[in-house]
Amino acid sequence: MGDKKAMKCHVEVAVLKKNVDLQKIQSFVERFVTSGVKLKSNAIIQKPDGLEDCVEFIQFDDNIKYFKSLNETQLVYHFYKINERGAEIEILESDSNESNDEVPASNHWLLPSRDFTGLWESLIYEEGLKENILKYVETSLLFSQRKVNPNIISCNRIILLHGPPGTGKTSLCKAVAQKLSIRMSQNFKYTHLVEINSHSLFSKWFSESGKLVMKLFSRIREIVEHPQSLVCVLIDEVESIAYARSSVSGDEPRDALRVVNAVLTQLDQIRKYPNVLILTTSNLTATIDCAFIDRADIKIFIDFPTTRAIYEIYLSAIHELMRVQIIQNQSILVYDSLDNFERIDDISDCTEHELSMKLLKIAEQSIGLSGRTLRKIPFLAHSLLVENDVIVLNDFLNALKLSLQNHLKDTKALSTGTQVNGYL
Ligand SMILES: Nc1ncnc2c1ncn2[C@@H]1O[C@H](COP(=O)(O)OP(=O)(O)OP(=O)(O)O)[C@@H](O)[C@H]1O
Ligand SMILES: [Mg+2]
Repeated sequence: MGDKKAMKCHVEVAVLKKNVDLQKIQSFVERFVTSGVKLKSNAIIQKPDGLEDCVEFIQFDDNIKYFKSLNETQLVYHFYKINERGAEIEILESDSNESNDEVPASNHWLLPSRDFTGLWESLIYEEGLKENILKYVETSLLFSQRKVNPNIISCNRIILLHGPPGTGKTSLCKAVAQKLSIRMSQNFKYTHLVEINSHSLFSKWFSESGKLVMKLFSRIREIVEHPQSLVCVLIDEVESIAYARSSVSGDEPRDALRVVNAVLTQLDQIRKYPNVLILTTSNLTATIDCAFIDRADIKIFIDFPTTRAIYEIYLSAIHELMRVQIIQNQSILVYDSLDNFERIDDISDCTEHELSMKLLKIAEQSIGLSGRTLRKIPFLAHSLLVENDVIVLNDFLNALKLSLQNHLKDTKALSTGTQVNGYL
């Protein structure tokens, strides 16, 4: 192994202009990591001192936690400029005689996009889940670039994230594409994200869908033909294709099949290109055994958040409300520090500990809720305190607990059909 350094740590630098002094930035980073200053959980330095005019923020990957010295850690730099342009909506025209409607067939971003800044960090899962997805993807792109024989090692570059609603699958696909655009900028000059609007293609426009699919894919192929471009194609809620297959009955069987076949054929053609990655999501696990899904070589189940993730999701909401001075600044422990605290005997006047324990209890009572719901509860909690001029953390936690209880009561009422608070 020679003098290989034991650990790699990715350092992603969002620059504000094209020509920046890379050496100066690297010296800043080296000084920072060796200074022993601890970074907050998401490991971001905003507007670094002395570099304000050229760097927006610097971000480290999780390995920064284990950083000991520059001799043992290789810092891998990625410099990128955020694209300010939002999505372009690709409108396809349906040529049918009865209707000359326009179909919003896809959304197209050039990455890294401002729309997805911070998305990766905002998604909280068990340690390693996000990084592992990224490693799978990087491996599959490397294999295709090096032309590994797919008959010897099968690798389709199709990924499926499946699991219950609201667990962050769609967001994670977008975040992965954004991360790739930053991490793989050495290999690809441009990264595109094309989000296919399955609903408008597959549900409403059956008789025309086959043609629309062809049109859409021929547009995608135009981008794919540039070898310097990485093209991430997102097919959200892929069960709508599965649905089309299973609904082959009544008057439209041939149309439905034609659409499905068109998609499968097009996907088969497009995935032959080494610079294409297909990201798919589904929340109907029962229907994922269709031909399309069989092609996926990485299938990852995204479950409801665990206590640790819930705690961290609530904590990120609290920190955000402190940042904008809606809640008064007060310290509260991160999940990983909770254990150490329990071992201390005298905690009687430790409010930081008490507050953290209170949040932990709320997190435990929130098991079974999706990330989407968890992100709403702090909002509901604040609405209970809107009259207060000053909100201290303890009051906010009480309100959080109450909002959670209300939410659980309401969902129970919804599922049993009983009336609560006159909402139904
Ligand atoms: N594990 C998580 N950590 C942080 N935020 C989460 C998490 N899971 C979901 N969210 C938040 O919930 C919202 C909904 O996520 P998203 O739409 O990606 O979920 P989904 O799994 O695609 O849902 P659906 O199955 O309904 O399409 C997003 O704002 C996301 O940030
Ligand atoms: Mg989704």
